[in-house]
Amino acid sequence: MSDKNTVTLTFSDGRPPIELPLLDSTLGKQVVDVRPLATQGIYTLDPGFTATASCESRITFIDGEKGLLSHRGYAIEDLAYKSDFMEVCYLLIYGELPTIEQKLAFENSIRHHSMLHDQVSTVFRGFRRDAHPMALMIGVTGALSAFYPDAHNVFDAKTREIAAHRLLAKVPTIAAWAYKYTMGEPFMYPQNRMGYAENFLHMMLATPCEPYEVNPVLARALDRIFILHADHEQNASTSTVRLSGSSGATPFACMAAGMASLWGPLHGGANEAVLRMLEEIGDVKRIPEFIARAKDKSTGFRLMGFGHRIYKNFDPRANVIRETAHEVLDELDMHDDPQFRIALELERIALEDDYFIQKKLYPNVDFYSGIVFRALGIPAAMFTPIFALARTAGWVAQWSEMLSDPAHKIGRPRQRYIGPQLREYVPIEQRGV
Ligand code: CMC
Repeated sequence: MSDKNTVTLTFSDGRPPIELPLLDSTLGKQVVDVRPLATQGIYTLDPGFTATASCESRITFIDGEKGLLSHRGYAIEDLAYKSDFMEVCYLLIYGELPTIEQKLAFENSIRHHSMLHDQVSTVFRGFRRDAHPMALMIGVTGALSAFYPDAHNVFDAKTREIAAHRLLAKVPTIAAWAYKYTMGEPFMYPQNRMGYAENFLHMMLATPCEPYEVNPVLARALDRIFILHADHEQNASTSTVRLSGSSGATPFACMAAGMASLWGPLHGGANEAVLRMLEEIGDVKRIPEFIARAKDKSTGFRLMGFGHRIYKNFDPRANVIRETAHEVLDELDMHDDPQFRIALELERIALEDDYFIQKKLYPNVDFYSGIVFRALGIPAAMFTPIFALARTAGWVAQWSEMLSDPAHKIGRPRQRYIGPQLREYVPIEQRGV
């Protein structure tokens, strides 16, 4: 890589130009290093980070024009079809695919960290029964900071590794228990003999009253969905984790912050919104009505599960999930699932519509995931918690990468101030007369 290229910033008011380094990336766009501007008293303005790289990272690469997503150099399709979630977690955190011994040791560690401190169950009991499971996840994950004060030493690599293992292991238990709590059912303990996705399904759907056999086809489908959600570069929740972690905050609080950001309907909350939208559409005949609403700005309605800030061709994760939806519905003998038929038809009609073509709006990962989750017997309120569970892998990897950088700095964006000039304080009795 050559860092020798520069760009020159010239000024119309006759000030001397400023040379800025133009950095190459191993893949993807070049990046102008604007740091020298601060010493010249100039900042850049980019609300929504549409053109700003907030960090350097070796973990995930996306080419939105080509519909390409890769982790540590491996294409998402290869990982989704040939790997498993535990292996992808290892890859994200350690940078390489594990050997058999490394994988067994990693899985063993995750299994043996999956139980929650017994007192955590009382944290759940402080919540209303009708709370959204995401509210419980955020609260309980943040509360783990109180149980692991040793995790505060975040600049120590071993401490970060232990925290990463604890989080990967315990977040599924928290997610499953959040569901159990809202259902008024007893908490099911993790089973160390089970695989990661299998164990999660068991903790969520089994009860102590009868044996519960996890269907391996469905566990495999869920594992694949975990892979597809594992990391996605510097999205809103990951950037939130990085920014909150940049101050040296405890990882459990940082992950809770990431979950809070993920919960929004424009981010991880979209999968729940998609299913509610498909339910509202109810019949393929009503699709044109919803397409028209989505095109009319005055309605404020958007087709949930469509569009992406980065993907302007197709979302490779949506293709894999569509195929997984077929597999799951076949396995469960649900090929005529009305919502799947509405989703397929909605996709077909939208992709032929000029509005969606011109704005490059394609189905994203959330469009089909809800259909798979529902077929697995998972209720809509749990869709975003499952996204959070899977994304924890990316969050811990990105958080750890940031803190391992010797040049690490606390995140502190600038602003363009457009408020009042300095003015004199007027005592209250002299105001408004
Ligand atoms: N339905 C109708 N119009 C849309 C949609 C949609 N789903 N998405 C974008 N547009 C329009 C939008 O109105 C705008 O039109 P105009 O240029 O005339 O003002 C244009 O397309 C660009 O939209 P934007 O909001 O400026 O684009 P963005 O990059 O800021 O937002 C997005 C991306 C994902 C927030 C947006 O496409 C959206 O709200 N989609 C629906 C929610 C959704 O499915 N979110 C899940 C994202 S994937 C999972 C994840 O990573 O979290």
